[in-house]
Amino acid sequence: MKVTKYVLPVAGLGTRFLPATKAIPKEMLPIVDRPLIQYVVEEAVEAGATEIILVTHSSKRALEDHFDKNLELERQLEEKGKDDLLEKVHAILPEGVKVVSVRQPEPLGLGHAVLCAQHLVENEPFGVILPDVLIHHPHTGCMAQMVEQFSRLNHSLIGVESVPLEDVCKYGIVSLYPDEIGEKIQRMAGIVEKPSQQEAPSTLSVVGRYILTPQILRMLEKTQQGAGGEIQLTDAIADLLQHEPIYTYTFEGISYDCGHKEGFLRANLEYGLRDPESGKTLMKLIQEHVGRV
Ligand code: G1P
Repeated sequence: MKVTKYVLPVAGLGTRFLPATKAIPKEMLPIVDRPLIQYVVEEAVEAGATEIILVTHSSKRALEDHFDKNLELERQLEEKGKDDLLEKVHAILPEGVKVVSVRQPEPLGLGHAVLCAQHLVENEPFGVILPDVLIHHPHTGCMAQMVEQFSRLNHSLIGVESVPLEDVCKYGIVSLYPDEIGEKIQRMAGIVEKPSQQEAPSTLSVVGRYILTPQILRMLEKTQQGAGGEIQLTDAIADLLQHEPIYTYTFEGISYDCGHKEGFLRANLEYGLRDPESGKTLMKLIQEHVGRV
């Protein structure tokens, strides 16, 4: 079954990046020359998205504007013959892909955000991408890798990666059945949101990439407040596990948790070094800097 709808929860206020995020959404912070949100939309489009659903907040209109046409800007670029820039602007959203948005009126958690998109998702499997996390792979994005696996499995699939034990308290952590299905695909036995080191069933963390069957919405309808007083997607996934199998997928690629300063800086550095326009200059700057210290 195809996965064409992708839910991107973007209602969070991004307080970790204040003062930068006082007037602009954290998802509009740039990694090199593109805002974070554009990377994840590109990842969804590569995976086959035709509908991107932003679950957003009234203070974050810039996100909708980024994917809307700006005819004035396009006309100016055209008149000045700046074709390369015009091309970059056009590439923000390919033909045939639409961005729609729905408001999350209260900050009640990730599970609640996904439930806000219920009427748009309807009765199909759908993707969820958390824009705080960028995943780089030189050929095939994480979501495209997952869609390929999902087309064989037809069960919910959660992207995971191993983290140091001291970081388990930052993530959803899964436990697995011992019978390995494939090298990268395993059947989930349990999932818990932000456990302590003592409670963590493993160090395999949920990385912010999900393909979920629509039954998750039935679970979310009755999910109560969990960790941090929020309605957690993790708890609804744990409920879904009681009704149908769920699999984990250890993706190929490098993840950058841009929700934290260190991950954001590392992403700018490494995406910058890979960038064909600025990579060489950046490397030169680093070498000069290292020479000075
Ligand atoms: C959310 C999820 C968590 C997941 C994490 C990935 O937490 O609730 O399960 O591991 O994203 O970044 P948040 O970072 O929103 O607190």
